[in-house]
Amino acid sequence: MKQFISVHDVNNINELVAKGLSYKAAPLIHQHVGAGKRVGLLFLNPSLRTRLSTQVAARNLGMEAIVFNVDKEGWALEFEEGAIMSGNTVEHIKDAGPVLGQYFDILCIRTFPSLKNREDDYSEMFINQFIKYAGVPVLSLESATLHPLQSLTDILTITECLQAKPLLHKPRIVLTWAPHVKPLPQCVANSFAQWVNAWGEADFVITHPQDYELAEQFTKGATITHDQDAALEGADFVYVKNWSTYQDYGKIYENDPSWMLTEEKMRLTNLARVMHCLPVRRNVELSDEILDSTNSLVTQQAGNRVWAAQAVLHEMLTAQ
Ligand code: CP
Repeated sequence: MKQFISVHDVNNINELVAKGLSYKAAPLIHQHVGAGKRVGLLFLNPSLRTRLSTQVAARNLGMEAIVFNVDKEGWALEFEEGAIMSGNTVEHIKDAGPVLGQYFDILCIRTFPSLKNREDDYSEMFINQFIKYAGVPVLSLESATLHPLQSLTDILTITECLQAKPLLHKPRIVLTWAPHVKPLPQCVANSFAQWVNAWGEADFVITHPQDYELAEQFTKGATITHDQDAALEGADFVYVKNWSTYQDYGKIYENDPSWMLTEEKMRLTNLARVMHCLPVRRNVELSDEILDSTNSLVTQQAGNRVWAAQAVLHEMLTAQ
């Protein structure tokens, strides 16, 4: 694997999931594979899970992991080709990228979208400029439109649940929009849709209020409905996530609290397990009663971030 930016960089999702689960059973089986190698974790915005789980994963493979909070500690980077740098940016990615490539064997980047200009965000300029100029394999820790390590973790977690308690039918997986107080990126929802569609082993439904349609390039293959109750009927897994509008980009149109998942709505499901990538706004996106119930997978999911990251780092370290 030369890069990990989206599901398109993965040959076989189930094999990668199996590798992650094998690390969960025996974290140190490849503890010497990364000896003498260094991974750089560059953050342009905050993180708890992605930052720490990727460091733990790298250490499990014997790699040295160095975190750099670019947004707080680095020079302000310029990403536009041909920019006249007379404003606030101090260093061009054309100069910083090759330098970072000298220090690290793998470069991991975390960025967010601006949520102001859809064309810019969906062009993935930041991560693509790192790929262009770093000269070493690049792993996405979340980009403007996708969060592939999160999605790999999510499928790993679903697989783990299905292995522990097999179903007699194809799992029904529902991605439901939830209210939030701030406009959030579409990354997690886009990425989850992209991976579940590519995985092809679920009856996949997306439900959201009108005006919250996601980009078709990620959702194609899923059933899409504005009727949350109909979507939840018979669900085995419910993935809860807020996102801002895609068409009239980056807005909150409505924040109808009735979209928050409750125990009452859960009665429509097939004793569904509830997923969320975290951080979560309690009693806005998801109620305490759900998050604190045995149906909740959120802690298991977050723990599994280590094994997903370890599987991907191993693939990148051993790529021909
Ligand atoms: N889910 C996730 O990416 O969490 P962090 O923002 O804490 O990394």
